[in-house]
Amino acid sequence: MSITSYFALVPAAGGGARMGTSIPKQYLTLAGRPLIYHPLATLCSVERIERVYVVLAPDDEDWPEEEFVDLASKLRVLRCGGATRAESVANGLREMAAIVTDEDWVLVHDAARACLTVDHVETLIRVVGADIVGGILATPVADTLKHEALARINATVPRDDLWQAQTPQMFRYRLLVRALAAAPSVTDESGAIEALGLKPKLVAADSTNFKVTYPLDLKLAEWILANR
Ligand code: C5P
Repeated sequence: MSITSYFALVPAAGGGARMGTSIPKQYLTLAGRPLIYHPLATLCSVERIERVYVVLAPDDEDWPEEEFVDLASKLRVLRCGGATRAESVANGLREMAAIVTDEDWVLVHDAARACLTVDHVETLIRVVGADIVGGILATPVADTLKHEALARINATVPRDDLWQAQTPQMFRYRLLVRALAAAPSVTDESGAIEALGLKPKLVAADSTNFKVTYPLDLKLAEWILANR
């Protein structure tokens, strides 16, 4: 039996429109580096992860190659991003085919979750590594949730048993390729696996692994990185 390997795939072909900046948010400066440097450096320093693939838009002219010299032994750049996140991930998986085997694990991580830690990743690998389906990092919902209609509250959504999905989301290569081919419009990998009728595992993380989305989030991420 071959040994199962772990790979990371970081889709980074989005424009980050909600940030309201002219350059894509993954290249905004965070703690003296492009934002995307932080999650890529974290993934590269997880011993179990063999290679880290980052998926850029084919016409991306902002990727600052010189910033990533120290990650060069593990990091590989793929210029095959698509129109949606799911398409970017599917395209990246296709390009990894020569290196990755069907049963290898792929950890898909949002470029904008800049405060990911090695501990987050190792916890996910420890809990999900023996699982038949795979799983994701997530946090239980703390706030009361409201359903909106025309800027008014239409209903209160019971929060019991509700979790906020994060990344990395970890699934075996063949299963993930099959799931995304069957459900190309999902907003995360778990959604595609669920559409096959499978039940990914929830692994409790914490709110520091949030997605930098709005301008204020940059300040929060800066504070978290500085105070670890
Ligand atoms: O837009 P959102 O924050 O949900 O994007 C999540 C991740 O998917 C980001 O890392 C973004 O760069 C990536 N993405 C992508 N290709 C797209 C859209 C988003 O790789 N077409």
